[in-house]
Amino acid sequence: MLRGDPGRLRQVLLNLLGNAMKFTEQGFVSLTVERASAAAAPEGLVGLTARIADSGIGIAADRLADLFTSFQQGSGSIARRFGGTGLGLAISKEIVERMGGSITVRSTEGQGSTFTFTVFMRPGDPTRVKTRQLTPNETPVGACARLSILLSRTMRSTPPSPACTSAAWAMT
Ligand SMILES: Nc1ncnc2c1ncn2[C@@H]1O[C@H](COP(=O)(O)OP(=O)(O)OP(=O)(O)O)[C@@H](O)[C@H]1O
Ligand SMILES: [Mg+2]
Repeated sequence: MLRGDPGRLRQVLLNLLGNAMKFTEQGFVSLTVERASAAAAPEGLVGLTARIADSGIGIAADRLADLFTSFQQGSGSIARRFGGTGLGLAISKEIVERMGGSITVRSTEGQGSTFTFTVFMRPGDPTRVKTRQLTPNETPVGACARLSILLSRTMRSTPPSPACTSAAWAMT
């Protein structure tokens, strides 16, 4: 359990996942989150590393250095075709750095992109969280029913359980 700013973290994830979806017509978009190595974390903090990968249009090598600068949207035709303001990555970088972390990108034009960021948070105190035991027939609908989930065709590497879980929890 960690203590941080969920709203800001959501903003970064939504921008990176939104970009990945926007710039990927075929293939995959994936998100993995893991605990950063303890050696990388400042004392008393815990690091989380998120990796957002896609198989989309990719980014030209000569654009990577300026990518996190405001209003950088690539060629005019890309900006016209995909829309947006060109602020998402600059804002994401600012948020990640305020959380003590950093964000990087690896990309090959025409093949896809991978954005990786790490943020640091304070460990929370699980004993202060109010919990309630679900009855045997109860599902955590209250927490999950508002979520809209896009399920795409299963890839060989994807286990089938998310579809079953979301159906059981009445997500749309
Ligand atoms: N996953 C990606 N694949 C290919 N290009 C990307 C990807 N993510 C970002 N880019 C490039 O970087 C530019 C800047 O991204 P950024 O999120 O800052 O702005 P935006 O998505 O164009 O607009 P906004 O996020 O403000 O709505 C994009 O316009 C696009 O050219
Ligand atoms: Mg964006």
